[in-house]
Amino acid sequence: MRKLSALACCAMLVAVPGLALANPALAQKKNCMACHAVDKRLVGPSFKDIGAKYAKQDAAADLATRIVKGSSGRWGPVPMPANPQVSVEEAQALSTWILEQGGKP
Ligand code: HEC
Repeated sequence: MRKLSALACCAMLVAVPGLALANPALAQKKNCMACHAVDKRLVGPSFKDIGAKYAKQDAAADLATRIVKGSSGRWGPVPMPANPQVSVEEAQALSTWILEQGGKP
């Protein structure tokens, strides 16, 4: 009986957070990595540079909107197209993860 409830507990832990654990995989799956890398510039700025730029601001919500709707004029002449394949929740998870990259060496 004891063993069973321990199992149920762990199964719930695995099922709920999903998004928070899978952000690099989510970025891969949503095609972000076609234009971005974590630590070097490709078509778009690196996620570290983005994280560093907004480190002193509460930027997660703003970036989430720009991930879904697209972005232009902040990093150079190349705009980011809208990403309609990304839901608002996914965009929030991605922007939070991207902002975390700024603080890493
Ligand atoms: C077609 C190439 C391309 C794809 C695909 C792409 N990006 Fe971008 N991204 C860019 C470019 C170019 C910029 C710089 C835009 C600018 O100057 O405002 C950018 C900027 C950003 C920014 C910074 C926006 C700002 O306001 O400073 C974030 C955050 C970002 N991208 C996240 C993502 C995420 C997450 C995905 C996947 C869902 C993604 N990008 C997919 C090219 C891309």
